[in-house]
Amino acid sequence: MSRVIGIGLAGFGTVGAGVYKNLLRNGPLLEQRTGARFEVRKIAVRDMAKPRDVQAPAELFTQSADDLLADPAIEVVVELMGGIDIPLAFVRKAIEAGKIVVTGNKALLAEHGAEIFELARDKRVPVFYEAAVAGGIPIIKSVREAFAGNRFEAIHGILNGTSNYILTRMTDEGLEFGPVLAEAQQLGYAEADPALDVNGWDAAHKAIILASLAYGFWIPPRDVLVEGIERVTASDIRFADELGYRIKLLATIKADEAGGIEVRVVPTLIPKAHMLASVGGVFNAVAVRGDVVGEAVFYGRGAGQDPTSSSVLGDLAEAAAFLQSPRQCVGFTSHGLYGRCKPVDRTISKYYLRLGVEDRPGVLAQIAGTLAKADIGILSVIQPEGLVDGSVPLVLTLHDAPYGPMKQTAEALASLPCVKGQPLLLHMETFS
Ligand SMILES: NC(=O)c1ccc[n+]([C@@H]2O[C@H](COP(=O)([O-])OP(=O)(O)OC[C@H]3O[C@@H](n4cnc5c(N)ncnc54)[C@H](OP(=O)(O)O)[C@@H]3O)[C@@H](O)[C@H]2O)c1
Repeated sequence: MSRVIGIGLAGFGTVGAGVYKNLLRNGPLLEQRTGARFEVRKIAVRDMAKPRDVQAPAELFTQSADDLLADPAIEVVVELMGGIDIPLAFVRKAIEAGKIVVTGNKALLAEHGAEIFELARDKRVPVFYEAAVAGGIPIIKSVREAFAGNRFEAIHGILNGTSNYILTRMTDEGLEFGPVLAEAQQLGYAEADPALDVNGWDAAHKAIILASLAYGFWIPPRDVLVEGIERVTASDIRFADELGYRIKLLATIKADEAGGIEVRVVPTLIPKAHMLASVGGVFNAVAVRGDVVGEAVFYGRGAGQDPTSSSVLGDLAEAAAFLQSPRQCVGFTSHGLYGRCKPVDRTISKYYLRLGVEDRPGVLAQIAGTLAKADIGILSVIQPEGLVDGSVPLVLTLHDAPYGPMKQTAEALASLPCVKGQPLLLHMETFS
């Protein structure tokens, strides 16, 4: 006899409706695999009158998510409302009430993971969140469980499908950012308000969750370097190509030898030969380097109704296993090996620097001199022919340097009379 587990869905939008639909579709299979039959007993939405693509019995719907918490027949709540304040209050109350929480809310966990998991540990209530990072890719479970015997040397990820779609179109067709974004919005790949997608913060929320899980403490968002793809031009993509690189919005998570953790999500030049360079369109990928496993790469759909609900169904299976045999793991385990972030200004990288300069002798010497004063070495220089906005583009790649002095030097270069417009400084990742 299967155990029946009562589910409350808080949210019936893209993902919530997908979970309901796919529970109907694969519930019997899930039951055979887990010994549990999942029954959706309540669904909270904002607007009861809204027409819906996925149909569920009218009597399941409520406008108050608190009704899910008050129902003793609901053992697992699935938070898929979006936003931060309302889900935070809801998740807190769910844990207090002893209900297992499943959520896909990366913004909530990146901002409030520390307090949520402290409460979860105190109350011995699991919180599962596979859908919060990289949609259908099971990266949370892998980092938490499959790689539990590894020290993480580095994790790199392409974690935002919208940005990756835009950069892919810019690369393949030589288009500029603005028109591709407008088209992505029309096609529904980008939200009406695409800010979090293109300004890097959606990917940063996911990187914070991955880094926190890998290094055993909650990374404060203020310690993460985040930049969006808005300033990358079709010319930058072409120059990078000439140098043997692709530009990706890359999450880089790594520990230095002293145990300081670096997390950044910035447009980054990566060698064309690296596997992540060939991840195109809306796809996501995560490359994990562990001291025991070596390199492992995950690839798949990072968003969308079905891939994301696949991860939620996996979490429901976890919840069933917990109910059948409660165990220590509550979704996040802190440990004492690390515990501090490396200040962003002291993180080291190679860089790509694109300047607009006057077309006259002596300019290169002035620029080289400014870089030399800051002890920043030049790796290569290309000066493509032709004018861009009335100045000549000058593209330099630069040796490893700390970010703080590098940024200051880029500002110093911008103030030279021979330099026109704002320089573009991008990180380069060689994965060494
Ligand atoms: N979409 C994806 O591909 C994806 C992928 C990974 C993670 N996620 C995460 O999953 C979560 C849900 O995303 P989504 O795309 O499914 O969002 P969505 O389509 O906007 O759906 C949100 C749902 O929550 C309901 N809701 C909002 N506020 C509520 C409240 N105060 N009380 C009760 N119900 C409320 C809405 O009700 P109405 O239907 O009445 O408006 C709607 O059904 C977000 O945290 C998102 O970051 C999404």
